[in-house]
Amino acid sequence: MLIAQITDMHVVAEGELAMGSVDAAAALTAAVDRLNGFSPQPDIVVITGDLTDGGQADQYRNLRRLLAPMKAPFIVLPGNHDDRAAMREAFADHAYLPQSGPFLHSVIEDHPLRIVTLDTVDPGSSGGRLCADRLAWLDAALAAAPDRPTLLALHHPPFDTGIGFMDRIGLEGSDGLAAVVSRHPQVERVICGHVHRPVQVRFAGTLASIAPSTAHQIPLTLDPDQPDAWLREPAGMCLFLWTGQQLVGHTLYIGEFGDLTLY
Ligand SMILES: [Fe+2]
Ligand SMILES: [Fe+2]
Repeated sequence: MLIAQITDMHVVAEGELAMGSVDAAAALTAAVDRLNGFSPQPDIVVITGDLTDGGQADQYRNLRRLLAPMKAPFIVLPGNHDDRAAMREAFADHAYLPQSGPFLHSVIEDHPLRIVTLDTVDPGSSGGRLCADRLAWLDAALAAAPDRPTLLALHHPPFDTGIGFMDRIGLEGSDGLAAVVSRHPQVERVICGHVHRPVQVRFAGTLASIAPSTAHQIPLTLDPDQPDAWLREPAGMCLFLWTGQQLVGHTLYIGEFGDLTLY
């Protein structure tokens, strides 16, 4: 089984640029083309939040238009730039998304690897939050299938990256998440977005990783006082190959970099 993770597309309305400078639509189209040309095709694409830049209906309309050519099926979860109500409306045909209740969590049972998505959004805040209700939901969702290897997906990483300005808008409640995950050793990996660059760490007895954005990236700086910054490093996505025994993680860059000719 092959799972693709794309994240942080920050799509705006048709014809507009994200932050006045980033052509997020062209970037997402390039990501979709890259995936459509990949063989084998992913069984599922998990989209880990910040789907749009402002959570508005016209941005979700543009997102649906841009995702329509993607051959592989996909699932979505929200990030801090998303709006739950607008997302529910835009993805009303996505039956795994709850149509009521406060959170957009989901469980996808259709594949050899079970996928659980967790909503970390704290409306009005760039950081995320896992309250007792959300942790209890996750604990029960994982307890329902202890023998099924599981991928857990959420927007805000439950760990500090050393990148000060992103850690300051991190996840409140990550200790609670670690406590839940450590009780469920079937969790093969925790995948996240939000940080716009690839990062990996050991977390609660499993692995946790962040995928690069399909659009703009943040510079790697480990200076805690560095102010916010963005750059045009290569966009990318992650691919996870489930062999039946192991989940192998890859980073796939998007763009034309040229083949190496050896003499
Ligand atoms: Fe983002
Ligand atoms: Fe984010």
